[in-house]
Amino acid sequence: MDCTVGLGGHAEAILGASPEVRVLGVDRDPQALELARDRLEPFGSRVRLVEADFADLPDVLERLGEGLATGVLADLGVSSLQLDSPERGFSFRRNGPLDMRMGNQGPTAADVVNTYSEEALRDIFWQYGDERQARRIARALARERENQPLETTGDLKRVVYRAKSSPGRSGRRPGRREGRVDPATRVFQALRIEVNRELSRLQTLLDEVVKLIDAEGRLVVISYHSLEDRLVKNSLRRLARGKIDEITGRTHSETRVLEVLTKKPVRPSAEEIAINPRSRSARLRAARRL
Ligand SMILES: C[S@@+](CC[C@H](N)C(=O)[O-])C[C@H]1O[C@@H](n2cnc3c(N)ncnc32)[C@H](O)[C@@H]1O
Repeated sequence: MDCTVGLGGHAEAILGASPEVRVLGVDRDPQALELARDRLEPFGSRVRLVEADFADLPDVLERLGEGLATGVLADLGVSSLQLDSPERGFSFRRNGPLDMRMGNQGPTAADVVNTYSEEALRDIFWQYGDERQARRIARALARERENQPLETTGDLKRVVYRAKSSPGRSGRRPGRREGRVDPATRVFQALRIEVNRELSRLQTLLDEVVKLIDAEGRLVVISYHSLEDRLVKNSLRRLARGKIDEITGRTHSETRVLEVLTKKPVRPSAEEIAINPRSRSARLRAARRL
């Protein structure tokens, strides 16, 4: 089960490596699924593609009449297709509508910046983007939208740049420490996480997924920022430790459902980063279903 099949790169590699394997590919992006369908066509009936949120995987499997999986892969975050399509609104590098939805449903990034309270925006930038100037940027957005709603990635970028380059109360110019990173990076990341409810969906997947994997099956999760990786690390640890008796504080080892196979997350090599710079923040964690 590839729950983030995207453009089908991983699925293609898995299908090519093991002739007896079938892949159920899930993604919430219908545009990506179209491309994956073309790419995986040579594998015929060994591939099944479904548009769904991976948080709903148990229902999807039941609806399809599929049994337990021998392996589950989740390669989190956004795809190159999403990042490189200006009309999807994920990229601060190119102008486009302020959308950022991976699928077709729910509020867009424009809805978030134009309707959330200033305090809610500040918390999102701070918590999901680790943005030090969260308060200042939220204030600038609240002021800007009084004149005119923000509609494009360019509108948002302009407000963030302006907020970050105006001198603070101390007279110092903020944002120096960011070096070569674009000043809008953290705000864009934070909004994307909010729009797609990325952390709550991931937690639901992690809570449910062991029920969908057969004994000896593998769970592999690749994350791209520390908030995701922390959820993955903690969930795998909890499932590998087993339930704790509330009175005695002892763990019931018979309730362990996973063995963690990666003591430390696997990171890309320097050669891989040179070929594929977007892999640079990837951390892979894997576990075996007991
Ligand atoms: C990094 S890309 C995956 C790329 C893929 N492994 C490949 O080889 O092309 C992440 C994909 O996960 C999808 N995605 C993210 N969150 C999702 C969710 N909650 N449910 C389903 N798909 C999700 C995105 O739409 C995106 O296509």
